[in-house]
Amino acid sequence: MRYFFHFICFCIIHTLCLLFVIKMFISEFLPAVIPVFGVGLVRFVNGLCTGYGNLAGTCYTRRQCRNANGVASTGCARSIGVCCVITRTCGQSSQINNTYFVSPGFPTAYSGAGVCTFTIQKIDADVCQVRIDFLTLRLAQPNTSGSCITDALVITGGASTVPILCGENSGQHMYVDFNGNTNIVISIGTTGAIGRAWNIKVTQINCNCPTKAPSGCLQYFNRTTGTVTSFNYGLAATQGGTRQLANQNYGVCIAMIRGYCGITWSQTNTLSFGVSGDTYTAIGDNSVGTITAEMFGVNCLTDFIVIPSPVLTNPSFNTDRFCGNGFATVTSNSKPFVLTVVTDANELNDMGNVGFSLNYAQTRCPVITTT
Ligand SMILES: *[C@@H]1O[C@H](CO)[C@@H](O)[C@H](O)[C@H]1NC(C)=O
Ligand SMILES: *[C@@H]1O[C@H](CO)[C@@H](O)[C@H](O)[C@H]1NC(C)=O
Ligand SMILES: *[C@@H]1O[C@H](CO)[C@@H](O)[C@H](O)[C@H]1NC(C)=O
Repeated sequence: MRYFFHFICFCIIHTLCLLFVIKMFISEFLPAVIPVFGVGLVRFVNGLCTGYGNLAGTCYTRRQCRNANGVASTGCARSIGVCCVITRTCGQSSQINNTYFVSPGFPTAYSGAGVCTFTIQKIDADVCQVRIDFLTLRLAQPNTSGSCITDALVITGGASTVPILCGENSGQHMYVDFNGNTNIVISIGTTGAIGRAWNIKVTQINCNCPTKAPSGCLQYFNRTTGTVTSFNYGLAATQGGTRQLANQNYGVCIAMIRGYCGITWSQTNTLSFGVSGDTYTAIGDNSVGTITAEMFGVNCLTDFIVIPSPVLTNPSFNTDRFCGNGFATVTSNSKPFVLTVVTDANELNDMGNVGFSLNYAQTRCPVITTT
């Protein structure tokens, strides 16, 4: 009998020990998705969480976070896990959702020269697209022809061509589709010891995700109202300079919200549309931002935007191409809602062009009465 009790005791202690060891093992070593039984053991999934500095992270075990070269911050999954923020820099790659690609020493300005590449590897076969958020992207301005020659950001490996960027693009974003299993590579070439910085968030998007952008849309907006700005939008620092980038040709798509049938485009302010021609002349004669400085149709041959089939009050606007240095408000009922941006290879004669900043507002469908 005594031996029997000893035996039972031994078993209980042994089992508790074993459970403890299993728990330690799980929180240290195993992928966190294993369902766990028994007292004191909790299962958790590698869900999204918010880590230090409000950055997006993944809930990992400490061990997983270390292995992923992440930075562990706040606890998650009832503090069994840690919110792990993944940051990568030059020459590195990532197969983890919500990875931040930063310049060396970010947020301190980086003045090195060379090519800095970051490789995006698909998490799994269910992923079709990435959203690239340029949280911070400050590179050298283009030359006076609009070419990115001092610094250039190039994205390769995706399913379609992505325009080359430089200058100030903080707050901008892009969607790039994967081309099969090929990695998408972001390369930033820098020359000259000027200060620049970037912090680029890469989100991987499942093929069946409702927020996935339609294929081919470089930018995608999903609200009823918003603002679309061209890359490197702004006023050039020097007379003769341009902020408009050369060789752009891309589509901006706006999700059609239920109950809305059209979209109205308008300039954000009188200086917010300088797409072709000499902006300084238009500023000088006070025509900037007015219909006098706006150009249409066949007069828009080098740099322009396209808004399909706009409803125009003035028949002489009978066109869907717009350029020049002013933009009169237009509404389009063509679907899908899309704005196409085109620039040619040389912005030399387009002095002081800012590019554009346009507000959009979706317009409600007419009420159909059946009487
Ligand atoms: C800007 O760079 C492009 C590409 O190298 C070159 O063709 C162009 O001549 C340059 N423009 C000026 C004004 O130097
Ligand atoms: C990546 O994270 C975002 C949230 O930041 C989420 O919406 C998306 O579904 C995640 N992608 C995958 C493939 O899990
Ligand atoms: C709109 O797009 C943002 C950015 O991808 C996303 O986080 C959000 O969930 C989307 N909203 C809707 C209603 O689709």
